[in-house]
Amino acid sequence: MLKKVAVFVSGGGSNLQSLIDDSQNAYKITLVISDKENAFALERAEQHQIKSAYFGKNNFPDKEKRTQATLQLLQEMKIDYIVLAGYLSIVPTELIQAYPQKIINIHPSLIPSFCGMGYYGHFVHEAVLKAGVKLSGATVHFVDEGVDTGAIIMQKSVDISNIHTAEEIAQAVLKIEHEILPQALSYLCQEQITIQEHRTIILQ
Ligand code: GRF
Repeated sequence: MLKKVAVFVSGGGSNLQSLIDDSQNAYKITLVISDKENAFALERAEQHQIKSAYFGKNNFPDKEKRTQATLQLLQEMKIDYIVLAGYLSIVPTELIQAYPQKIINIHPSLIPSFCGMGYYGHFVHEAVLKAGVKLSGATVHFVDEGVDTGAIIMQKSVDISNIHTAEEIAQAVLKIEHEILPQALSYLCQEQITIQEHRTIILQ
């Protein structure tokens, strides 16, 4: 039985699309949850007949009720794993505790560089450009109660020596995100990831 996966989104959903298009067949995307009512990612879900829901300040202004409604839907849908794919809200502790080592996130830098509060979207790539680093890349990591502090599952770098704008860096990194997120999710759903002292080991 394929593992059931919920994807949390806030924006365009290109990472969601890479998961939908993934043909490794190790999981099934059965739910998309957005904290933005007009996220194009919700359109993508609809195009692929994937159940979607908006949980945000317009329909659940009270955060505790929002968390309870989210948890209830995840349980009703028998979700096994959760992927944060361009999701911009902080995941409530209660949700993290309900899905221990079952929530992963894609971050558009090589953690522990350029991550943590305030490092998301274009802010990441602007800081990378300003720092003059020659490599950037993306990271898939487990979500714990910190910001971008969970155990790292996969990373892939890209040489940005000859890239001179934050937008070009973003495009180069997004391409990597679309490669490593489906692969990391496949490892997770096939239970091929173990963690020893904050270091993951992928069982091939
Ligand atoms: C991008 O900045 C990506 O790097 C990050 O989330 C943003 C939107 O991604 N992971 P998506 O196209 O909505 O998946």
